[in-house]
Amino acid sequence: MSDLASLVAATSATLARIAADFSPAVFASSLAAEDMVLTDLILQAGLPIAIFSLDTGRLNAETVAVIDAVRARYGYNIAVYHPNAQAVAAYVANHGLNAFYDSVDMRRECCRIRKVEPLGRALAGQRAWVTGQRRAQSSTRQELAVQEDDAAHAMVKFNPLADWQESDVWDYIRANDVPYNALHDQGFPSIGCAPCTRAIEPGEDVRAGRWWWENPEQKECGLHMVDGKLIRIKSVAA
Ligand code: ADX
Ligand code: SF4
Repeated sequence: MSDLASLVAATSATLARIAADFSPAVFASSLAAEDMVLTDLILQAGLPIAIFSLDTGRLNAETVAVIDAVRARYGYNIAVYHPNAQAVAAYVANHGLNAFYDSVDMRRECCRIRKVEPLGRALAGQRAWVTGQRRAQSSTRQELAVQEDDAAHAMVKFNPLADWQESDVWDYIRANDVPYNALHDQGFPSIGCAPCTRAIEPGEDVRAGRWWWENPEQKECGLHMVDGKLIRIKSVAA
């Protein structure tokens, strides 16, 4: 078996185990490349893991277009969660539309309103959630396990691509003709909100274009943090 085939086999087994033993489970898709690999594996196998995306209201058009691409390719409607409109309006009125450039606190507050609170709604009533995080993505993810206890949401969290390299992701996408965000071909290996993501130069770290004005150890939006800290509690081996 090739390296990619064994990674795919292990990831498919993890997803099947989540569907069998941790139902109801949901998959959080940012609509970026990693998440398209998981989308393809979940939908091709017909697994009962519902896919949702958090539309922060600040996404690029290319990112939102992936929702239509998934519908066209798989006949599947990704559930979309939006931020609380009053909370967004209050933030903008009090601090300005782009106050996240002013301080880490202002950035985290914007992420809290536009991502973290909607995530809580998306996860309500679930036993497990799935993400597309990989260990190799950043210094903050080096301890990432395939299966973790998520104390903040009182559920199990799975990162089935924890062992994958960026090249594995692209080999899978090309081999299986998986649709992907057009920004990936324009220098964006990692994609978040439009004002907080920029293209990188060859040789730069894959997350160098995310919140580029902050220190690397601060570059997490709160989706994967508890009380301001990254929590990694390794659970049973996958
Ligand atoms: S982030 O914390 O820096 O924004 P990143 O973009 O690397 O995260 O994505 C890591 C994982 O977090 C994704 O694979 C996905 O599971 C989840 N995620 C990030 N952004 C979103 C989003 N807008 N909607 C749903 N899930 C998301
Ligand atoms: Fe706000 Fe930027 Fe966070 Fe998006 S990534 S929610 S625009 S601070």
